[in-house]
Parts: sequence; C-alpha cells; structure tokens
Amino acid sequence: MIKKVSPAFSLNGTITPPPDKSISQRAAIFALLHDGKSVIKNYSPAEDPQSTLNCVQLLGAEVTQLDEVVSIEGRGRYGIQPLSDELDCGNSGTAMRLLAGVLVGSGSAVKMIGDPSLSARTMTRIIEPLESMGAHILARNGEYAPLFVTREDPLIPIEFELPIASAQLKSSILLAGLFGETPTKVIEITPSRDHTERLLNLGVEQVDGKRVISASMKDGIPNQSYTIPADFSAAAFWLVAGSIMPDSEIRMQNVGLNPTRTGLLSILKDMGADITVENEHEEGTEPCGDIIVRSAQLHKIDLDPKLIPNCIDELPILSVAMMFADGTSIISGAEELRHKETDRVMAIAKMMDAVGGVYEEMEDGLVIRGNPEFKFESAQFDSFHDHRIAMASAILSLKGKEASEIESAESAAVSYKTFWEDLEILANG
Ligand code: S3P
Repeated sequence: MIKKVSPAFSLNGTITPPPDKSISQRAAIFALLHDGKSVIKNYSPAEDPQSTLNCVQLLGAEVTQLDEVVSIEGRGRYGIQPLSDELDCGNSGTAMRLLAGVLVGSGSAVKMIGDPSLSARTMTRIIEPLESMGAHILARNGEYAPLFVTREDPLIPIEFELPIASAQLKSSILLAGLFGETPTKVIEITPSRDHTERLLNLGVEQVDGKRVISASMKDGIPNQSYTIPADFSAAAFWLVAGSIMPDSEIRMQNVGLNPTRTGLLSILKDMGADITVENEHEEGTEPCGDIIVRSAQLHKIDLDPKLIPNCIDELPILSVAMMFADGTSIISGAEELRHKETDRVMAIAKMMDAVGGVYEEMEDGLVIRGNPEFKFESAQFDSFHDHRIAMASAILSLKGKEASEIESAESAAVSYKTFWEDLEILANG
C-alpha cells in the first residue's frame, strides 16, 4: 500500500498509543508456561503479538481472544505439546528468539519460519548459546530461518555473558534455563529491556558492576493476569512529532515508563523538548504514566553510546528530530541498528536522501546536520517493509510543502495498527 501523507500545521489532541508489543509477546509466552489460566487485558492487536499468540496456541495453550482481552490456559512448562511441526513467527524477532528458548527448554522438535525480513536476520546469536545447552539447531546457511530446533540430549545449564546488549538473546537463554535443574545465569554488561526478569520475577544480582540474571526449574511461573501499558516505542513517534511541529500539544495516556525503555525521553529533554509526565503508577510489574509533549526548539546532541540499548527502537524517529535540531547531532555505537527488521542505518539514510537531508552514514550510526528551518517539496519514501521506518517517514512527511508518499506503509501494523487513524486525529485536532 502506498500512503499519501499531507503536510500538517500542528498536531493536537489526546491519544492512547497501542499496547506494548514487547510486553504483550512476553505475557503470551509466559502464560503458555504457567500452569493455569491467565487473563491479559489490553493485549496488542498488532501483527507481531498476534503471530506470537498463534505460536502459543500451536504449542498447546488454549487461547481465547475477545477484543483486547486474551485468556490463555497454559499447561505448564512440562505440558508443552506442539500441535504442528511448524511455527510461523511472521515478522517478529522477539517471537522467534524467545520461543526458540522455550522449544530448547522443553525439548520440542519444531521448524520455525518467518517472513522474508525475519528470514534475513541473523540467528547465530541464539544458535550458539542454545547449542551449548544441548540443543541442535539446523539453520539456512547455518545462520538464518527456517530453524529446525531439537534437543535430545539432557539440558545443560550455562553461564553466559551477553556479547551484545540484546533482550531477545537474554530472554531466549533464560527461557531455556527455566527447564534446568541448576540455574542458568545470563551476565549483562549493558542493561537491556528487563521485562522478562520483571514478569517472571527472576533473581537478579549485581556482581562487579554487571547484572547476573538466573533461571531454573525452581523458579515458579507467575500467573500473567495484568493490563499491558501503552507502548513507549509507539508513543515515541508523537514525542518527536509534538516537539518539531509548531503550536502542538499531544497527550498520551497510560504509557509504559520502564526505565530500560525510556532513553528517548531523557534524550529529547536534553535536546530541549517540552515533555511532562503525570499520574505515574504501576501496572503489574511495569511503571507507567501519562505524557504531555508540546512544541519546542530542539538542540543538537552527541548521543552517549551507552544509551543506545535504551533507545534502539526509537533511533529512526530520533533521527527525524535531529534533522530539525540546531546543529549537528551524532548517533554512534549503534551497529545493532543494522540487524533490525531492515538495516535501519541504511533505511534512515535513504529516508533523509528522499528529502535532501544532510548527513554522513557511519558503520555504527549517523552524523546528522540539523536545521530548524529545514523544508522540502514532497518525497517518495521507501519503508523497506519496516514498521518503524514507515512511521518515521510519515512524521517527516508532515514537514513537506506538498503531500509525500510512503511505500509499503501497511508495515506500520506490525506494531501500531491505528497509527494512520491517530495521525489523522492529531492533524485535525
Ligand atoms: C525486543 C528487544 C530489542 C528490540 C525489539 C524488541 C524485545 O531487540 O529492538 O524491537 O522484545 O525483547 P534486541 O533484543 O535484539 O536488541
């Protein structure tokens, strides 16, 4: 689908961004492992969480979905019984990597497949440690999906220091570890999102400045009945849009504010954004609150590479903010961005090419020359079938003089089904 996006004067109104994608997917997987019923409220209707739900059903859980309330009757970690020998993870790296851990732990023999984007993403990062736990994983070219996962030998608990700050890798190993007699320990140097530890109530220790997270069969699997907060990564598009569009005020309710996810909030504030957070409270184990953003002149920033895991999914839209800041901003230490739904360093560069933006592409990031007065006529954007590139291009389109077009804009539905409706509400607000 080619989407036409007209320029806007300002953005105003109140919206509730979609339910958090990462938490929804974990809630479904952990409900599969729980012995009994979980009722998850505000489960995400987006494509990735729905792919995970289908997989959870194919692994033997009874799933009923009524609007945004999902009931999952899990059979416990030892009751996993694949009803199919193939799991389709769609576009979702989280589904493939976390469920691979579950399959290895439970010793289920299943083929995991994904769409062309997911089939082009490296799985080496999970294959190596999961094989050291006793699994056998056959992958295309030794690296890519389809993955044929089996484990016939006994499960070997491991101690594993993460070579990259990745919550998907961390969670994959911990989920396999939940089936071991002795603890599997994952050692994290740079903290990544910690939803898995929180929702499973896993033991976390600080040792020599590193986080050590443990999982074994002695860890009970808590009931997953709670309300999923709105997705901070979806709110991110409006945080930037509300900042760079003149005369704007956007209010967002009940947004997840887990500190391992909200790097963009502090980055935008450091850039001079006018953002306030109200009504802070907890939803289950996750902090959340309401966010209000108003127009502001943004200033350049040289991002601390240590912050990257904390804002990795927000870098496409942060690049748009940097284009309108006064001065040159730098994103470095973001090599991981090349391994997302598409090579996002390349995709951001192409997005900026489409409007004549001034930037330099580096192996691990971008240098972006900002200009508060930046204008362009209109643009043809390629989303590369990547939801976050499609939505970042849409926000950039608002700054054109004429309407712009975004190719394969339907990809927004991977995380945000009502993105285009919310854009319309705010542009007409
Ligand atoms: C996710 C972790 C991050 C993130 C992805 C969702 C998760 O990936 O980019 O969108 O749900 O754990 P990595 O763990 O590979 O960094």
